[in-house]
Amino acid sequence: MTNKEIKIAYTEYTSLDELDPQDRILVESAIEATTSAYAPYSNFKVGAAVRFEDGQIIKGSNQENAAYPSGMCAERTALFYASASRPDVPMNALAIAAAQDGRLIPNPVAPCGACRQVMAQYQLKSGCPMKIFLIGAEKIHEFDKVEALLPFIFDSI
Ligand code: THU
Repeated sequence: MTNKEIKIAYTEYTSLDELDPQDRILVESAIEATTSAYAPYSNFKVGAAVRFEDGQIIKGSNQENAAYPSGMCAERTALFYASASRPDVPMNALAIAAAQDGRLIPNPVAPCGACRQVMAQYQLKSGCPMKIFLIGAEKIHEFDKVEALLPFIFDSI
């Protein structure tokens, strides 16, 4: 028997000014995307922004439905939109923000398990690490690849 351990490394920023300029644009896009959320049931407005390797950014937000499970999270809205729009262009970063009552939530938003699995799939499809930025009003967390949020990724390919 061997006991093993997994360590997760991430970077914490306490101001947008600390970010690399390209990353700051991505983070600001995710924050902006919260305003397009359709969240009449939860009032929890999530925004996501995906960056392609050529720098182009695509945004998405959560879209709720009266039949609750028919709604969709912001991350998957953005990732599916990105892959459907530019199927041959790798994605290398994703930023996620969430707002309640018109204000960003204080701590970095944590993506749900289904979204983490979808992130893993698009990282695999892209063939390069996908950086993840989880945004809060007080701090931003940066992870250098999806494995940091989803160890032991399922992959049937
Ligand atoms: N939501 C997201 O958009 N992303 C997540 O990772 C977690 C949850 C949305 C779904 C629903 O519209 C609202 O947040 C409340 O759960």
